Amino acid sequence: MTHQLLLLAGDGIGPEIMAEVKALIDWMNAEGIGSFAYEEGLVGGAAYDAEGVAISETTMQKALAADAVIFGAVGGPKWDGVPYEVRPEAGLLRLRKDLGLFANLRPAICYPALAEASSLKREVVEGLDVLIVRELTGGVYFGEPKEITDLGNGQKRAVDTQVYETYEIERIVRVACELAKTRAKRVTSMEKRNVMKSGVLWNEVATEVARREYPDIAFDHMLADAGGMQLVRWPKQFDVIVTDNLFGDMLSDVAAMLTGSLGMLPSASLGAPDPQSGRRKAMYEPVHGSAPDIAGKEVANPIAMFASFAMCLRYSCGMIEAAGQLEKAIAEVLDEGLRTGDILPRTGAEGLTEVGTKGMGQAIRERFLSLAQAG
Ligand code: IPM
Ligand code: MN
Repeated sequence: MTHQLLLLAGDGIGPEIMAEVKALIDWMNAEGIGSFAYEEGLVGGAAYDAEGVAISETTMQKALAADAVIFGAVGGPKWDGVPYEVRPEAGLLRLRKDLGLFANLRPAICYPALAEASSLKREVVEGLDVLIVRELTGGVYFGEPKEITDLGNGQKRAVDTQVYETYEIERIVRVACELAKTRAKRVTSMEKRNVMKSGVLWNEVATEVARREYPDIAFDHMLADAGGMQLVRWPKQFDVIVTDNLFGDMLSDVAAMLTGSLGMLPSASLGAPDPQSGRRKAMYEPVHGSAPDIAGKEVANPIAMFASFAMCLRYSCGMIEAAGQLEKAIAEVLDEGLRTGDILPRTGAEGLTEVGTKGMGQAIRERFLSLAQAG
């Protein structure tokens, strides 16, 4: 079976890290480890420059038709002045919304070799394995009204709307609980029910779903601010965290830094399973952004991009073994001391070899190939 992929590299370091994964896909096809057909398209600032929009209708159609979208990153200071509707991020948000990708899985795993690169002490992060499940198509990102009104007296008024309905909370809590079943069977739900009505409903609905449908999952709640604090105090207390779109955005950046670098965190964004085929629409993207400051310098860390592709192999292609081998290849290359600049330890780099984007990409591909061939 051939898997249809759409590669959207985007802006900044997006094209550099995507090139590494593209080379992996070509190798896999050539070696018969998988069968992939891919197309490429523009998104973000790159699409704006070429087509005047953050994502074209043609590219949207291709995304809807693909088994999975592999996404790089969007945005950069170059597009600071473009109209809000066509800013680079609008392309990413449209993909999430129109593909119905409500469940965003952001696993924060601290590879043993990287415990020294974290800004936290080794014992706090070593062995960390937390999964953040972020609601991705609702909340303040999409709620209406969303506007700035001129009050005519020299003042303006800006409104964003945080809105959640019962079904949106139910389905994301179910995803979190299902995933927790395959892990340590613990879920922590985070909201701000002490100040937000949406938090009150979130808490009620989440509690009820967990009680009724998942009696074997240890389910608890934390206010999102306290959750952020606990994530840096003792992150290993968490197994799965389920939270809304905005809190999930912030908490996953915090979690990323625990693992040593923002350059390490992959993500999968999944839709509801199709009632007939059981297939889910899906997009895979690194959690880090376009990093315009280092773009074009060949120093970007491609690991989050590779790890996102590993999630694609697992969730969209049913290639569980290959996914594990790719993750193992990343871990082994790190164990051997290869580092991009962002994951060098704060002190003492003896025994480590600094490599660029291509060097890291090549090493991971070679290791993956030998693991795959050894079977
Ligand atoms: C993320 C990013 C996006 C978000 C931006 C680029 C719109 O920060 O995926 O975490 O806020 O969701
Ligand atoms: Mn973010």
